[in-house]
Amino acid sequence: MIDDQTRQRNLLVDRKRLALLSMLIAAPRRDDGALRTLMALRSVSSRMSAEDDGTDFSCGVDELDAALRRDVLRPPSDDGFGSYVARSDGRIAGFFHLRRSHILCVHPDGQTRDAAVAPIPLVMLPRIAVDRRHQGTGLGAALLADALRLGLEAGQTIGAEALYIHALSDEVRPFYSRFGLRPTAPVIDPRGFIATVADLAMARSRPKTA
Ligand SMILES: CC(C)(COP(=O)(O)OP(=O)(O)OC[C@H]1O[C@@H](n2cnc3c(N)ncnc32)[C@H](O)[C@@H]1OP(=O)(O)O)[C@@H](O)C(=O)NCCC(=O)NCCS
Repeated sequence: MIDDQTRQRNLLVDRKRLALLSMLIAAPRRDDGALRTLMALRSVSSRMSAEDDGTDFSCGVDELDAALRRDVLRPPSDDGFGSYVARSDGRIAGFFHLRRSHILCVHPDGQTRDAAVAPIPLVMLPRIAVDRRHQGTGLGAALLADALRLGLEAGQTIGAEALYIHALSDEVRPFYSRFGLRPTAPVIDPRGFIATVADLAMARSRPKTA
C-alpha cells in the first residue's frame, strides 16, 4: 500500500519522464493507420533455439550476419529479451533481437539533471534482418510487427516508456517511417526511431487490416 506522498511523487516522476520522452521525438504523433496495419500482420517468428543454424544466413550486412551467429548461442531469456527467428525449410529466413536499454538525462557538465527522472527505460531493437533469398516478400514487415508486439509486452513488464530503433543506414530509414514509427530528434540520433509504449498499445488494441 503506497501513501499519498509517494503516489504524488510517482506521478511527478511519470510526468517528467513523459515530458523528457516527448523531447526525444522529432515528429508529432500522426495518424497511426500504418502502425495499426503493421500490428495486425500475422506472427511469423518464434524464440531462437540452440538447434537453429545461422551459418548460411546472409542479409547483405556482414555485422548483422555475424550477430546472428553469436545470438544462436544465447537463446532468449524468460523476460522476453533476446533473438527471435522466422524459419523456412528448416533454415533461418529472418531474425530480430530485443534488448533492454535506457536513456540517461545528463547536464552538459556531466551531472545527471535529476536522479528522479533518470534513466528512462526503453526496449531496443538493435537488429532485424531478412536473408537475401526472402527479401522483398513481406517478411521484414512481419518480423517488425512481431518485434513491436513482443517489445510492447517486454516493455510493459519492465516499465519501459518506448521502443527504440537505430537504422543502420540512411537507405533503410524509409522501411521504418513507412510504418508510422517516429524519428528521434536529430540531436539524439539522426537515424533513430521511436514508438512509445502508449502508441503501440493503442495500435494493437485497434488493429486495421490492409
Ligand atoms: C530491411 C529489411 C529487414 C526489410 O525486409 P524485407 O523482407 O525486404 O521487407 P518487406 O518485403 O517486408 O518490405 C516491406 C515494405 O518495406 C519496403 N522496404 C523494404 N526494405 C526497404 C528499404 N531498405 N528501404 C525502404 N523501404 C524498404 C518494401 O518496399 C515494402 O513496401 P511495400 O509494402 O510498399 O512493397 C531487409 O531488406 C534486410 O534485411 N536488409 C538488410 C539488413 C538491414 O539493413 N536491416 C536493418 C537494420 S537497421
